[in-house]
Amino acid sequence: MNIAVFCSGSGTNLQAIIDAHKRGDIKADLKLVVSDVPACLALERAKKAGIKTLIVERKDFKSKEDFEAEIIKNLNKEKIDLIVLAGYMRLISTDFVNQYKNKILNIHPALLPSFKGTHGIKDAFEYGVKVTGPTVHFVTQDMDAGPIILQGAIKVTEDDTEESLAQAIHKEEHKLYPRAIQLFVEGKIKIEGRKVRII
Ligand code: GAR
Repeated sequence: MNIAVFCSGSGTNLQAIIDAHKRGDIKADLKLVVSDVPACLALERAKKAGIKTLIVERKDFKSKEDFEAEIIKNLNKEKIDLIVLAGYMRLISTDFVNQYKNKILNIHPALLPSFKGTHGIKDAFEYGVKVTGPTVHFVTQDMDAGPIILQGAIKVTEDDTEESLAQAIHKEEHKLYPRAIQLFVEGKIKIEGRKVRII
């Protein structure tokens, strides 16, 4: 199975995926890392691991459709079976999602359906929740709304700061995401309507 990982930033989840792959905990090929942000740390991590990289910047294309067509062309070239969004801070169009139906995963740093969007950790912390944590889910046309594969629960203590909470959530993400990817690779994830069954 060929995997492409999409990133826009520091790529700590990508690193966790690379490390899990090296340990043999993800039994698939990490074929391509796609980034819409040139010179992000994620690209450095990919290069260091010897993974092919692709930089596609939105500003270089007239429309979102053209921008995504360039990405899809490269995914086809690499025969990608699974797309893993790891801190990719762009919404994927409905057309793109439909072309890779049930083959795009995302990680979100809050317990969905709470605190969707780009500030999941901050929003949960400021709301005063007592438990939060990352969610791995399928990507559908609605943002952060696809069937949930795995979630990790993190207790928020009175001593926590937004930073300490972020650290705990990231640590959990780095365990959860490789596990979810390997479940997908093994064909153990079954979608039944809104629900996911791990078989
Ligand atoms: C992760 O915490 C991920 O959950 C979050 O971006 C971070 C990327 O970190 N994603 C979202 O907020 C998506 N809505 P990384 O680049 O170090 O993996």
